[in-house]
Amino acid sequence: MNPEQEPVAPLSWDETLESLRRVAAAFEIGDAAAAEAYRLRFLSKKGEVTRLFEAFRALSGPEKKSVGQALNALRTEVEERWKEASAGTAQAAAASGATAPAAAPQLPAPVWGRGSRHPLSLTRRLMLDFFGELGFRWSEGPEIVDDWHNFGALHFEADHPARDMQDTFFVNLDPVYLLRTHTSSVQVKEMMKGLLPLRTVSPGRVYRNETVSARSHMQFHQVEGLYIDRDVSFADLKKVLYDFAIHLFGPDVQIRFRPSYFPFTEPSAEMDVTCFLCSGQGCNVCKHSGWVEILGCGMVDPQVLENCGIDSEVYSGYAFGIGIERLTMLRHRIPDIRLFYENDVRFVKQFGV
Ligand code: PHE
Repeated sequence: MNPEQEPVAPLSWDETLESLRRVAAAFEIGDAAAAEAYRLRFLSKKGEVTRLFEAFRALSGPEKKSVGQALNALRTEVEERWKEASAGTAQAAAASGATAPAAAPQLPAPVWGRGSRHPLSLTRRLMLDFFGELGFRWSEGPEIVDDWHNFGALHFEADHPARDMQDTFFVNLDPVYLLRTHTSSVQVKEMMKGLLPLRTVSPGRVYRNETVSARSHMQFHQVEGLYIDRDVSFADLKKVLYDFAIHLFGPDVQIRFRPSYFPFTEPSAEMDVTCFLCSGQGCNVCKHSGWVEILGCGMVDPQVLENCGIDSEVYSGYAFGIGIERLTMLRHRIPDIRLFYENDVRFVKQFGV
């Protein structure tokens, strides 16, 4: 997927107002019930006109003035029509035998609502914007890879459990092809190009042979990062991830590293942030610990550099891997990972454009 592609060009304010004007004008108000439906749809607290006023509040400068005038005019127009129609339907109801006017086919058809971005795309955009500004270049790779790119180059021992059929989806056994279990496979591809220094982020879908439940799925998305240069240190890694946490959760967030193990990094760590929902006080999202884990990271094992043709005497590097679903679930308090893939419009449209 290319992030530069805008699937839907956002409407301008003029277009939005005009489209709403037409929809309101086309709304048939034949009786008192329809008049009420009209009021609810356009003028109530959550009505479409009212919601535009909310969006309008974010504007500034000269645009604010012109849009404000146009928006007020639209509201007056929509209100007038409702007042007239309510008075009319009341009279009509009083006069016995009155019938609703027939549908008028010449009126403009209602305009379909705008689509919205998927919550995972929004989080991915937020993450990649941050790393992009630090000079990390975006890299992608295939979802079906050989053993070398997913495991071998990354120093997974032959009997590592991830190589088991229980944990990985194998597409072919001889030669081995599998659905990548992490986007570190893209990092291998990038390292083997031999272009140094290297600073890259690899977003993409990954697969693990997990039982589908509220907390885990057999497919999810990651953004993995890799930086290789002379004299890269763990302090560099900490600084970047600290700034990343601030970018996502605000200036008051704190981070902590817990020792961990990954075959391809040494030392390895997992990073927690202070729970941004309860500010570290304890809540059910952080299971009352005040901390939530958001990523795995570490210094690239020199053997991995050598495997990919990089001189580990000269170069060092750090790597990190972040699950997009997990971050999105934490940020929006989404209780079930399966919601991301069901495409229920009531769910996906809640997250803005
Ligand atoms: N590849 C690891 C995973 O998918 C995450 C990770 C990336 C950990 C880079 C450390 C360094 O779980």
